[in-house]
Amino acid sequence: MACEKELSICRQVALEAGALLRNFLGRVTQIAHKAETDLVTEADLQSEKLILESLGRHFPEDTFLTEETGMHGAASKRVWLIDPLDGTINFAHEVPFFAVSIALQVQGETMLGVVYNPCTQELFEASRGSGAFLNQKPITVSRTAKLIDSLLATGFPYHMRQNPQDVMKRFNNLVVRGQSTRRFGSAAMDLCYVAAGRLAGYWEQDLKPWDTAAGEILVTEAGGRVTDFDGNPFTPYLKTILASNSLIHEDMLAALRL
Ligand code: IPD
Ligand code: CA
Ligand code: CA
Repeated sequence: MACEKELSICRQVALEAGALLRNFLGRVTQIAHKAETDLVTEADLQSEKLILESLGRHFPEDTFLTEETGMHGAASKRVWLIDPLDGTINFAHEVPFFAVSIALQVQGETMLGVVYNPCTQELFEASRGSGAFLNQKPITVSRTAKLIDSLLATGFPYHMRQNPQDVMKRFNNLVVRGQSTRRFGSAAMDLCYVAAGRLAGYWEQDLKPWDTAAGEILVTEAGGRVTDFDGNPFTPYLKTILASNSLIHEDMLAALRL
């Protein structure tokens, strides 16, 4: 299997960072604002430190891009994309729905992704060409073929209050077409839920590479499709993401068109 060693270390690191987050839940005393509604807690920072130190020890030549402290290490072909706590607002309000998300890109291609929700103890993982797994069991996307039978999810960008029009128009278009629409508060978990067949589709705009890289390979390896809102193949550096079971993808693309 490709990247077997990397996947096994990444899995271990995600489990350790997840345990750290779970221990902090309900005990956080330090919360800072990166923007009016964009928070960072001591748990985000400590989780990131743990992940960076562990991966850095195993892969000292690699590059690391993290949400809270940016770029680490010399430029290299191998870049780890790290979200130490995806779902910080949930976490800060003691809502037990958040995750650690880690992906490895080699020459711009995502080779593996691991997402761990320490509250449910669900570990999602995928590596290129080897399928997607939840707690070591294979997962696949749903077979729902019609939007009206589809459970969907989305998220709202932190800065949306400055310009809510496009986000709300797309939400309005889809909320009346699907069976129901959720806003869980963790993009990484939303993508894992598509991979596991719990959601048929998910869309969001203005996310960052560490939000989407791991979840994207999970959806793809589980048999789904991931593009931007124009149907272009997804990369984590694109501004918009649509992930689906592939069967409802074209209908979702049409509904996202403004
Ligand atoms: C956020 C979550 C949320 C999404 C936001 C992201 P964070 O990540 O994934 O679901 O709607 O846009 O920024 O800040 O909790 O790591
Ligand atoms: Ca995030
Ligand atoms: Ca985060």
